[in-house]
Amino acid sequence: MNATVTSLIYLVVSVLFILGLKGMTHPKTAVRGNLYGALAMLIAVVVTLLGRGFDFTLIGVGLAIGAAIGGAMAVTIQMTAMPQLVALFNGFGGLASVLVAGAVLATGDSRYSGMDSMMATAASGLIGAVTFTGSLVAFGKLQELKFIRDLRFSGQQLLNIVLFVGSLAAGWLMLQQPESGGLWYTVMVLAASLLGIGLVISIGGADMPVVIALLNSYSGLAAAATGFVLSNMVLIISGSLVGASGLILTRIMCVAMNRSLPAVLFGTLQQSGPAADADEVYQNVKSTSAEEVAMLLEVAERVAIIPGYGMAVAQAQHAVRDLTSHLGQLNVEVVFGIHPVAGRMPGHMNVLLAEADIEYERLLEMDDINRMMDRIDVAIVLGANDVVNPVARTDPGSPIAGMPIIDVDKARTVVVIKRSLSPGFAGIPNPLFAAENSLMLFGDGRQAVVDILKALQEA
Ligand code: TAP
Repeated sequence: MNATVTSLIYLVVSVLFILGLKGMTHPKTAVRGNLYGALAMLIAVVVTLLGRGFDFTLIGVGLAIGAAIGGAMAVTIQMTAMPQLVALFNGFGGLASVLVAGAVLATGDSRYSGMDSMMATAASGLIGAVTFTGSLVAFGKLQELKFIRDLRFSGQQLLNIVLFVGSLAAGWLMLQQPESGGLWYTVMVLAASLLGIGLVISIGGADMPVVIALLNSYSGLAAAATGFVLSNMVLIISGSLVGASGLILTRIMCVAMNRSLPAVLFGTLQQSGPAADADEVYQNVKSTSAEEVAMLLEVAERVAIIPGYGMAVAQAQHAVRDLTSHLGQLNVEVVFGIHPVAGRMPGHMNVLLAEADIEYERLLEMDDINRMMDRIDVAIVLGANDVVNPVARTDPGSPIAGMPIIDVDKARTVVVIKRSLSPGFAGIPNPLFAAENSLMLFGDGRQAVVDILKALQEA
């Protein structure tokens, strides 16, 4: 295909990628955004393959195996295990960059032996290797693999510095001694692989989503570097877009969890004082029943539902949709308060509620729901805990100190649905459960919502 036509098509593809990213900034346009991105990727792959003399049999076999594994994983994965899958896919992106750049180096083709191309190869190998092994560790942590959780030792930060300097030095030697380029590339990739492990094992599980977003950004940078190796414009552009958007997402998550990026990266936990005694905090907990909650809802004008990780575990979103429609028939206004880090991955709650066809207009971001909280008659906290824990506002020594929360305690009545008084992700008691205006409805999230709806229908 003519080079000008290819460049023009790559330009269209790049615009589609940008439109795709823009679409994914809002739940309403996210599906369209995803389609734009997928279409752009398809066109980019086809046009690239048309441009050169590839071995299509080999590519076909690779595509078939990859598509079968990827398809099977995507279909069978539990919604609660989605962050692990994303971590794994990021890692494979990094590994692809290492292999492609290494393969180009191995060909010894003079077109790729200029200084700029060699620098791009080194960047591809280094960033790709860190992304690959770092993502595997992130996967292991989220999967709660015991041997990964215990993989820590003193002097780790020092070793990380040594590995970082070592991998840079090997990359530099690769540029200086092109005749031994393959050897130095291998040494650099090995050192960077160990560095990826060292960087991520010291990071706490609570910060893992931030790390995954960051690794996603790295996988984009590695791909962009590979684009320079191959002189492929569309790979440079798409890799840069992934790099930049991953970095923006990382920042958004840091702000939502009140963590600074250096604190996340160097594994320094927020100062935490002695954890409050749960027995003392929960002295005045009042439990309620589905029938009692139904009576509260019947006379309410405005209800807010604040979902959290427990809604995902209970798969309660369809029952919540039915409750929302029934309350609508009773002229009760229902809105949802969505915390940016509710659940275990960005957009977790939005995805679940969208799956149950709950109208986007009902989903309010944290600041918007907080502004109207004093006008909410009943706030139903469904399987959320840390994201509604007032300790974030009141105890500067708490591990979640300063994390912005949804202020449900300011609603007239709060109904908390969960199975027990056990803590959430941060592992600390939540005084909301014992607040004057709080009632606990103990049970599985889905069953509790079904019972409330039944009680409303029977009333
Ligand atoms: P959590 O604080 O983790 O609390 C979830 C609650 O759900 C638990 O207290 C649990 O209590 C309850 N639960 C579990 N299964 C349930 C079921 N079947 N039915 C009803 N309730 C159930 O969740 P959150 O409020 O969504 O906060 C998220 C936390 O995860 C934050 O600390 C955040 O920083 C962290 N985090 C977020 C992300 C992202 S990006 N979203 C990623 C990783 C970590 P019971 O066991 O008593 O039922």
